[in-house]
Amino acid sequence: MCGIVGYVGNKSAVDILLEGLTSLEYRGYDSSGVAVNVNGKVELYKAAGKLQNLKHIVEKNYAEISKSTIGIGHIRWATHGAPTVENAHPHSCNCGKVAVVHNGIIENFKELKEKLEKNGCTFRSQTDTETIAHLVATKFGEVHNLTEAVRLATKEIEGAYAICVIHQDLPNTIVATRRNAPLVVGLGEGENFVASDVPALIQYTKKAMYLEDNQIVTLTPDSIKLIDIDNNPLAQHIEMLPWEPVALSKMGYKHFMLKEIHEQPDVVRNVLSGKLRAVDENVSLKEVTLDKEKLRELSRIQIVACGTSLHAAMVGKYLIEEFCEIPVDVEPSSEYIYRKTITDKNTLVIGVSQSGETADTITAVRQAKSKGSHILIITNRPDSTMAREADSLIPVNAGIEVSVAATKSYIAQLISFYLLAIYMAEVKGACDLGDLKHELIILPQKIEKVLAHKEDIQKFARKFANSKDFIFIARGINFPTALEGALKLKEISYINATGYTAGELKHGPIAMLDESMPVLSILMKGKVYDKILSNSEEAKARNARMIALTDSEDEKLNELFECIIRIPEISEILSPALTVVPLQLLAYYIAEFLGKDVDQPRNLAKSVTVE
Ligand code: G6P
Repeated sequence: MCGIVGYVGNKSAVDILLEGLTSLEYRGYDSSGVAVNVNGKVELYKAAGKLQNLKHIVEKNYAEISKSTIGIGHIRWATHGAPTVENAHPHSCNCGKVAVVHNGIIENFKELKEKLEKNGCTFRSQTDTETIAHLVATKFGEVHNLTEAVRLATKEIEGAYAICVIHQDLPNTIVATRRNAPLVVGLGEGENFVASDVPALIQYTKKAMYLEDNQIVTLTPDSIKLIDIDNNPLAQHIEMLPWEPVALSKMGYKHFMLKEIHEQPDVVRNVLSGKLRAVDENVSLKEVTLDKEKLRELSRIQIVACGTSLHAAMVGKYLIEEFCEIPVDVEPSSEYIYRKTITDKNTLVIGVSQSGETADTITAVRQAKSKGSHILIITNRPDSTMAREADSLIPVNAGIEVSVAATKSYIAQLISFYLLAIYMAEVKGACDLGDLKHELIILPQKIEKVLAHKEDIQKFARKFANSKDFIFIARGINFPTALEGALKLKEISYINATGYTAGELKHGPIAMLDESMPVLSILMKGKVYDKILSNSEEAKARNARMIALTDSEDEKLNELFECIIRIPEISEILSPALTVVPLQLLAYYIAEFLGKDVDQPRNLAKSVTVE
């Protein structure tokens, strides 16, 4: 959601902080700031709006700021208080000696604030974060030790947080800690780093240490000390990061989103690799640790997810029910957590999340876990908080996704669901899925064919770019694709787009149709083809502007549809893994034509770490 970077070492900190924030910009981008220590004084530089605004301020004061070899930086997605300069992080205490950056929410901040105000602290922002600065400063006054001050402060703080703190009198020390929000330390030579996510680190070091909840780390240029909340020293588990810096480059594409759409054939190959080796071999999914006997006895499956991941989950439901005949409920995590959790040890609960940090989904899987359900997590981030809750963990291996609008991670989640459903069907001895396996293996070539015709989609995009509204219709397994197509368009072009099951169109939404309304029908050959065709006729009769996304060569479609996006033939059951690609491109080209900020659409954040 927000991004944190900290640096202590032998180089100019501000360059590293700004680089790091740039690579975290996709996590939040409504304001930003850095704190450095120049000539023994903590100085804050902050700006509202995009990171570029902060860079301008830093440029103007560069001679001064660049002297500091320590600093902390933050990029914000507002939760408490508007995205103004006052509310931007870092925040400091009354005397300005302590500076703090924070991700997450301090739930008891009102009580803490009252107490601190009574003790003479003056608040300058509307944020919950400022309480941490005052609290740490108060504790520092008592114990004269920054690590100890932070430790004592965290004993009083409730909520979710990742925080980094510096103090004016300690120009070589950063203290950081976390609870329910990610934080990772990067280890260098004569320098150390801390960040909320690895993209901020990988260009400097691949040696990293993930912090666990309630651990407190003290970084100097030459040392890392780790303790728990009760002041016990802890052993450090250093890992090598798997990410390559190149993952963060646009590789010549205009936007990350377009690059990530083009990566999808390889992503499919990656996900299948080692799991689906040949049509006549069973799918190997050793990541599923649920005992095969227990898997056969499962009475129910619940899937929880948000946003794009929810749409992948809806396809997953269709597949598991079709192949395994186990009832599957799919629910937005944010709804699941606020009603009675009816689940037990015969229920498998699947959490799906690109980032693995979505607060609602984390809470949902924790709730289910407490009822004894086996928790299976499908995520692009095996290093995430959610992954740590998993009994079974399926990493989707899409590589880092920078564009806020999810594309390649969606395809990766879909393919993971195909593998999971086939695996479960094979364990149950349910049906022969050889044809589907063959189709999965050749899917990347079909996606490549769609991408090779992207100029056609670009042309259609220009035709419809000025529409105020957009409707997507489909039935069956492509209904989630209609929702996903609409979501992509909404997210990046701000056009009011909605996905409907085609059969529901006549029960209300049809009232909105006239000559200004584009209706895109996902019309794939299969058992619902004729039905969707009839629903498209109904829409055409109300003068809607009809677009087809189809694998049919039927000439008759030319009369009904103003535009036809033709894609390679594919079985209906696998089609969601192909139909979504032209819809991603359509959304992309419309947003690009309208001049929108494709990779960083307004009001959104890549992962939402608050409920
Ligand atoms: C945010 C993003 C969406 C994403 C959703 C779920 O709302 O803007 O693009 O689909 O979170 O994220 P997750 O990381 O859990 O898949």
